[in-house]
Amino acid sequence: MTSQKLNTFLEENLKELKDNGLYNEIDVLEGPNGAEITINGKKLINMSSNNYLGFANDERLKAKAIEATEVFGVGAGAVRTINGTQTIHEELETKIATFKHTEAAVAFQSGFNCNMGAISAVMNKNDAILSDELNHASIIDGCRLSGAKVIRVNHQDMDDLRAKAKAATESGQYEKVMYITDGVFSMDGDVANLPDIVKIAEEFDLITYVDDAHGSGVMGKGAGTVKHFGLQDKIDFQMGTLSKAVGVVGGYVAGTQNLIDWLKVRARPFLFSTSLTPGACAACIEAIDIMSSSTEENERLWENGRYLKEGLKKLGFNIGNSETPITPCIIGEEKLTQSFSKRLTEEGVYAKSIVFPTVPRGKGRVRNMPSAAHTKDHLDKVLETYEKVGKELNVIS
Ligand SMILES: Cc1ncc(COP(=O)(O)O)c(C=O)c1O
Repeated sequence: MTSQKLNTFLEENLKELKDNGLYNEIDVLEGPNGAEITINGKKLINMSSNNYLGFANDERLKAKAIEATEVFGVGAGAVRTINGTQTIHEELETKIATFKHTEAAVAFQSGFNCNMGAISAVMNKNDAILSDELNHASIIDGCRLSGAKVIRVNHQDMDDLRAKAKAATESGQYEKVMYITDGVFSMDGDVANLPDIVKIAEEFDLITYVDDAHGSGVMGKGAGTVKHFGLQDKIDFQMGTLSKAVGVVGGYVAGTQNLIDWLKVRARPFLFSTSLTPGACAACIEAIDIMSSSTEENERLWENGRYLKEGLKKLGFNIGNSETPITPCIIGEEKLTQSFSKRLTEEGVYAKSIVFPTVPRGKGRVRNMPSAAHTKDHLDKVLETYEKVGKELNVIS
């Protein structure tokens, strides 16, 4: 017999979520994640993936994954520190370090567990972490896990950061103080002000940690937000994912040799969770090779982002202040935002609504993620559909 207490807990809480329209039904793709996807037999233009460069279903990456699977097997067979480190894992880490212009890099099984492992490997209860209030959930959880005092900093507010950095360091309460931020904020598409952050970090000897999940492959001609600002020697942790622009799965930290040596003996997901599959490593290596030798996909991504933004703006939509291809279309009221997204899907455009609590109340939005894989025809169809639905729901006139 299963636990009665658990059953009651699950039934009550699931009912509450469903009654309040907060239960997330998962859409299942009947094929690869690309510019077009199929859900419930219906073909849709996909504006909701993080597959920025279209690599998730790229033939070159697929071929390398298959080849590596033949050579190394489907699984690594152990955690990295027992005997789950194959030559392909080391090859991937060397590639990442070269691409990021750092001494070394370490790869994790996901971006999420990379943040969980890397933050808590360095910070502890004697320390403080200053964290932008809009940082990703994996940063928030990694900070909590570390046991350090977490001090929220107003979003991209350099005066607030400076004041809190001064107070934390001058209090004498903490051994180390870190500032942690997304490189590109995925809900609005704004870019962290790294030049000012570095100045403040130098003034107060802060450890700097940039989660560039949405900047890698996008900013700095692909090499990321830190490279975009030419600050490779000034940022301690360049964290990124292999699951968004790189198109595969995994996460990494690039930094000094000492930092990487430490993470390899202290970051718990590295020590206690089985390594990336050989196929995933090979596909990531291929993606980095492509990004290193050509900016073709990166340029197409930015061109598509510009085209979509200009089109939506011309139609009269509020697209916020994105500095990257991420294009939020701010609708406002939560129910209207959800209806807007639903109508887009009915008309063949898959763009998800994002509402409170992920974004502030009244700032509901439909978020569009254009990619290098979209054609002008896709984007024209998206704009046509936005115009139709926008007029129908009185969002534009
Ligand atoms: C800023 C940020 N960091 C980390 C992650 C986690 O990355 P992954 O999906 O590779 O676990 C995400 C994913 O949404 C993210 O947006």
